[in-house]
Parts: sequence; structure tokens; C-alpha cells
Amino acid sequence: MTSVIGFAFLAACHSDNSMDTLVPHSDLTQGVMDVYSLVFWWTLFLFVLVQGGLIYIVMRFRSKGDHSAVPEQVHGNPTMEMGWTVAPVFILMSFAIPTVQFIFKTQAPAAADAVKVNALGKQWWFEFTYPDLGVVTGNEMHVPVGKEVSVRLQSDNVIHSFWVPQLMGKRDMIPGKVNTIKFTANKIGLFLGQCAEYCGDSHALMKFRVFVDSPEDFDKWVATQKSDAVVENAEVKATGEALFATNCASCHQIRGTAAAGMIGPDLTHVGSRSTIAAGLLDNNPESLKRWLSDPQEVKLGAKMILNKKLTDQEIKSLSDYLLSLK
Ligand code: CUA
Repeated sequence: MTSVIGFAFLAACHSDNSMDTLVPHSDLTQGVMDVYSLVFWWTLFLFVLVQGGLIYIVMRFRSKGDHSAVPEQVHGNPTMEMGWTVAPVFILMSFAIPTVQFIFKTQAPAAADAVKVNALGKQWWFEFTYPDLGVVTGNEMHVPVGKEVSVRLQSDNVIHSFWVPQLMGKRDMIPGKVNTIKFTANKIGLFLGQCAEYCGDSHALMKFRVFVDSPEDFDKWVATQKSDAVVENAEVKATGEALFATNCASCHQIRGTAAAGMIGPDLTHVGSRSTIAAGLLDNNPESLKRWLSDPQEVKLGAKMILNKKLTDQEIKSLSDYLLSLK
């Protein structure tokens, strides 16, 4: 009973941006849902059939009155035995065949014109590179609606697992191995992702976002991301670039400036992202202040090491600079 109430509560928690696996928004998750539904309805039907039969037999054949009489003895019934052997074979085949067909479909090579994304699992964030489009970004992936996307999953450290419940099932990112996953999103919007394989201190904080854009918005996003960083305010630019060069440039890159570090996320257009620290905090001055004051306080074990403690004024200047990198 408790579990029934629990499920009812969970069902009530559904919202459109949630990580509810029962709300498919791509061909891949829809296919999983179809197989799941088939198994669910067969299971429910068999449960009712077996429990109904059991209740009927208990009622119909229960001992009445004379407890000493021996009931009629039956030895074997070939028709029934054939029936309960053959029927389960057909029932199992009815979901084994669609399941195997769907597995093969997911393993087929991606379409030649699919949008290609290389996703690299880091501790604890995701790097997204679009090799055909010349775009590199971190933790926020954009894809066009209605178009196949093929993601190559890799890791250069430990095993992670790439998971966007409403767009794609979990698939591992394994060092020394390339896994792929392909999907076509059918709804414009924001979809939340999460690393699904324990990978160290901040595994639970290793989130990411997938934005499904209209084709026009996606093209616009690509054009912006490809270009170098532009900061309009000359003072913000000069102060920010100098602070960044001293404190951040050995790990982070900002294309169009001298900063070319390759360890942390590429920050060329960090101001255009909705979150920082792998989807943990909204991207705004308050969050940047927290992050730049003490990254480990925000994200346990974060690999970002500050050479020296930044002053409030330095944090303010850096944050103004980073947020202007649209
Ligand atoms: Cu990456 Cu868990």
C-alpha cells in the first residue's frame, strides 16, 4: 500500500522540465516507451488473469461441509498443459520481437546529415564539441528539433554515463572506448541531463542541459558560438582580460584573446550559458561570486584551483567580464 501511495506522489511530481522517464520527447525515448508500455499492459493483463483465476478457484473449490470426503482426483490434462506451455511462448515472443527490433534500430549508423556532437565526460562536467560546425562548449548542448543528432561519448578519466531522461537513455562514457547514441528530438525546449554512473566526489552534481531549438535558432546559436568573443565595454574588456590572463588562462580558453588553457571548460561564450558549474547555479553575478570565491564550497572536490584568493573587486570585474561574453 505504501508503495502505491508513493507512486501516486511521484506521478503528481511530473512537470514538463522534469527528468520523468515516462515523458518521451525523442524517437529514441518513444521507442523505449513503446516497449515498456507493451510489457506493462501484458503484465497487468496476466496479473489480473492469474489473480482472478486464483480467487475463482479458491471460492469455487473450497471445502464445504464434509471435511472427510476426498475430492475428485484428476491426473493430467494434455489440452491445458499444451495451453500453458504454448501461450507463454507467444506472449514472450510478442515483446521479445519488438524489443530486439528496436535494439537493432538504435544500433544502426546515424544518417549522413545528422548533427554530430562529441561529448567528453570530465570530473565533473561535460565538454561538447561539434566537429563539423567548429563549436566547443561546456555543459549546455544545443540541437535542432526534428533532426537526427549523433553523439560520440568518450571520457579521458573515469567512467561517466550520459543521460537525458526525456531524450536519450543512459549510455556510458568509458575511457579508451567510443560509444555512440543517436536521437531525434520532437519538441522545442529545455531538457535536463545528469551523469548516471558514480564517478567521484561531485558525481551527483555533474549535470548538463540540452536545449532543443527551432532550426533557425540553432543556426543562430552556431553562428554566435563559432565567432570569437566580443566585449563591447572597453574598460570591462581590459580589466577582465588582464585578470583572466593572471588567474584563469592556464586552464580556460577564451577564443579571440591570449587565454588558451585546455583543462577547464572553454569560456569563449560563457555569458550566453544559462548556468555555471555544470548546471549547478544560474549564471548571474551572485553565482559567479560564490564560484570565484570558493569553487570547492559549491562543488565538492572541484578541480578548479585558485592561485590566490581573489578580492571582491577582482571578482566583480571578472564576473562583469565573463557575463559580457555572450
Ligand atoms: Cu560523471 Cu558521475
